[in-house]
Amino acid sequence: MKILLAGGAGFIGSHTVVELIQAGHEPVVVDNLYNSNRKVFERLKAITGKDVCFYEADVCDAQAMDDIFAREHFDAVIQFAGYKAVPESVRESVKYYRNNLDTTLTLLECMQRHGVTRIVFSSSATVYGPIEESPLVETMPSAGPTNPYAWSKYMNEVILRDAVVSNPGWSVALLRYFNPIGAHESGLIGENPLGIPNNLMPYVTQVAVGKLPHLNINGTDFPTPDGTGVRDYIHVVDLARGHVAACDYLFDHTGCEVINLGTGVGYSVMDVVNTFERVNELTLEKVIAPRRPGDMASYYSDPTKAKNLLGWQTEKTLDDMCRDSWRWQKNNPNGYED
Ligand code: UFG
Repeated sequence: MKILLAGGAGFIGSHTVVELIQAGHEPVVVDNLYNSNRKVFERLKAITGKDVCFYEADVCDAQAMDDIFAREHFDAVIQFAGYKAVPESVRESVKYYRNNLDTTLTLLECMQRHGVTRIVFSSSATVYGPIEESPLVETMPSAGPTNPYAWSKYMNEVILRDAVVSNPGWSVALLRYFNPIGAHESGLIGENPLGIPNNLMPYVTQVAVGKLPHLNINGTDFPTPDGTGVRDYIHVVDLARGHVAACDYLFDHTGCEVINLGTGVGYSVMDVVNTFERVNELTLEKVIAPRRPGDMASYYSDPTKAKNLLGWQTEKTLDDMCRDSWRWQKNNPNGYED
């Protein structure tokens, strides 16, 4: 299949490019490089041996997207294009809603004009909202998202569900990611956040490489076995393979499915830190800090539906995630800027 990866030059998109090529598909990336770097394509060539087709364009630019759809004749679309920093979404909510909804709406209009019927959406576990009972199952109603980023994912899900109703014959997969970390085992591609990282693993790796002085352990009084927050960390290569499985599924099914992509296992902040130190043989500076406002104690998936529907499950361990995240950061202290 020829597959459009909208916003495909970023962390999850670039790993999905590799897995799609290895599965025999043809990815085409459209990205405005807002939060990514064109050097990723040299790295993708080194990994796959292929020149990946790349258009530098804004997915909100209807004319540019229309031209690309007319030229490429896609079999399916994966929609990764969106802003993703939770605190920034609170400060700049209008910017987040405008971009994160416009990208999807522009793609849907192009799909209608060009007869493309399959789309995978990059959603997030955050749409479940503050639910204290994990594992989270797709049939659970949302408790209501708690920030504009999360609402933008929720609203996209509503838009895509309705798009299937008005376009019978379309197929949509809403993939709810849990906590993607890790990197390709080559160490050539990985996460490259703008500014100071918000999320645990990029913060850990930047402390390890000396770019940040210490790691804050945000909260040690949660009702969890060791008092620190528990999450469902998933290796980005497993996550990328989940997208390949979703594309294959959409090929011969219609309708709309919500699917968790997680391991089903929760690890605490201290589990991650201890594993990172052990497998990489180093010690991190750590400071006990207050909880971040709104953080849940424990948040992990029930991944049964993905296994039953897509025949997909995770293969990589927390050791793999910690080793691969560090290999990427150590080899590329400044991301793609070296
Ligand atoms: N944490 C620290 N120190 C840090 C950063 C994080 O202790 O410097 C802790 C947090 O308190 C939490 C855990 O590490 O317990 C994970 O935090 P992340 O920010 O890495 O992940 P979250 O689960 O809070 O958020 C992630 C994504 C969101 C998404 C959400 C729900 O960043 O985009 O999962 O799926 F919305």
